[in-house]
Amino acid sequence: MKRKPLLLSCCLALLCCGCGRHIPRIESVAVVPRPVVLTQGEGAFRITPKTEIRLSPDDTALLREARTLASLFAESFGRPLPVVAGDIDGAPAIRLHGADLPPEGYTLHIGTDGVDIGAGSPAGAFYAVQTLRQLLPSAVLEGERTAGTELPETEIRDEPRIGYRALLLDVGRHFFTTEEVKSVIDLMAMHKLNRLQWHLTEDQGWRIEIEKYPELTRKGAFRDRCDMRPAEEGRPEKDPQPYGGFYTQDEIRDIVRYAAERHIQIVPEIEMPGHAMAALASYPRLGCLGESYEVPSQWGVKEDVYCAGRDSTFLFLEDVLGEVIGLFPYEYVHIGGDECPKARWKACPDCQRRIRDEGLADEDALQSYFVKRIERFLSAHGRRLVGWDEIRQGGLSPSAIVLSRKREQGLRSALETGNDVIMTPYMNCYFDYYQGDPETEPLAFGGHLPLAAAYALDPYEGLSPEQTRQIVGVQCNLWGEFVSTLDHARYMLLPRLAAFTDRSWSGGEPDYPDFLRRLTSMLRLYDACGYEYRKLTAADSLPEQKRD
Ligand code: ACM
Ligand code: ZN
Repeated sequence: MKRKPLLLSCCLALLCCGCGRHIPRIESVAVVPRPVVLTQGEGAFRITPKTEIRLSPDDTALLREARTLASLFAESFGRPLPVVAGDIDGAPAIRLHGADLPPEGYTLHIGTDGVDIGAGSPAGAFYAVQTLRQLLPSAVLEGERTAGTELPETEIRDEPRIGYRALLLDVGRHFFTTEEVKSVIDLMAMHKLNRLQWHLTEDQGWRIEIEKYPELTRKGAFRDRCDMRPAEEGRPEKDPQPYGGFYTQDEIRDIVRYAAERHIQIVPEIEMPGHAMAALASYPRLGCLGESYEVPSQWGVKEDVYCAGRDSTFLFLEDVLGEVIGLFPYEYVHIGGDECPKARWKACPDCQRRIRDEGLADEDALQSYFVKRIERFLSAHGRRLVGWDEIRQGGLSPSAIVLSRKREQGLRSALETGNDVIMTPYMNCYFDYYQGDPETEPLAFGGHLPLAAAYALDPYEGLSPEQTRQIVGVQCNLWGEFVSTLDHARYMLLPRLAAFTDRSWSGGEPDYPDFLRRLTSMLRLYDACGYEYRKLTAADSLPEQKRD
């Protein structure tokens, strides 16, 4: 939280509490993502430290959300609002109750005589609270002492159009601590996202403790330099110190719980057959060459991948996935599948024998064999496999889900075979790309993805109504090559995450000027939380030009 100097806070407190004249409120209601229906009236409802949040006895499932709502006022009022389970009628209050709505849907009526929140499920109530947070004045958001606040008279009905709204967090390239991951989860919650694809294994680091294979985190979680950037290759490295980290299984359980309390499911990503150098360095028999692997300090696609010929590779991966399944209680398990060069498989006697024995056409078909074999294991354990576009190579089983960043390579063929798809077009959803002029931005991945490009996301672009039914989700991605701190992660995500959620949750006709107007309420929230974020420039006020 950003802190006002103490003296100033005291003066404000005297002004506000002493005479009770100044009760802060916002002037105009602006919400991101855009609710289905929103109308603002003339009046207001006054909330004081005595205003009760009331739950009916039938709605104790909403108790956590009621407490989250109560805590929004805790700093400013000196204590959270009282939460009362009992008769929901009576004196002016905030009433919270279940309603016949979609699970993530909610209604929020703010009248002069009280607030009424109806929720399809605890998730819906949680999103109502996130919306209400955007209606609070900065004084309350920043925790200034006030005697009360007013909410503008407003009617909102809301529900998301897409049920799977995800962010990828890459902790392989740079490690983020448990507390930092929780902070990223807070950002997701604020933006009403509900899936975290947690990229837990990479060439440059293995981040999840696997009890059966301790070398993965003893050796595979560390590389011998921190931060070698392509632009700096050939120069003496800045920071030639070992770098790494990992999550114990207890820490993973803690993060899964923290996310679940915010209605976010975590989809673990365990990369295979490529992006596996950290595993190969830990257990060299997993690779075709069987020796001399190191955890690389440089980025880029590596030739060395899991050997698809030896059964021991699959036994290892099934053990790993078995432990992963025990930690993440959700249906989807992501197995990567992207960027797997085939050179080692071409030269490996074991891989070639597999191709002959299984009657496979080539190395692409061997990748398909690999993915299908892993999918059988996951299916037998009640899980669904998710993978990047390349899991299409050589054919795919119908129940796998394709995470598609490439329209032509991945999306088209997934649509043809009827596979479910999560859309993540890189032109709109790769938030490791530059947000503005590379001259004035921190070093980033090469692409250009200003706020307007994030807002130009249309997950259904060019699809027939029939095909849109295959689009089960939408995702944005924070790859970590150039992002090594939480502040920098926030800078890359904010405010592009707001554009992403506006186009994912809300949909409808794009209206960029209207989005920019509503974005001010999000920026106010970022400011109140003291978040690092990218400030808009004149260039950001122009809508995205259509590009091919
Ligand atoms: C990816 O962008 N390597 C999935
Ligand atoms: Zn091999």
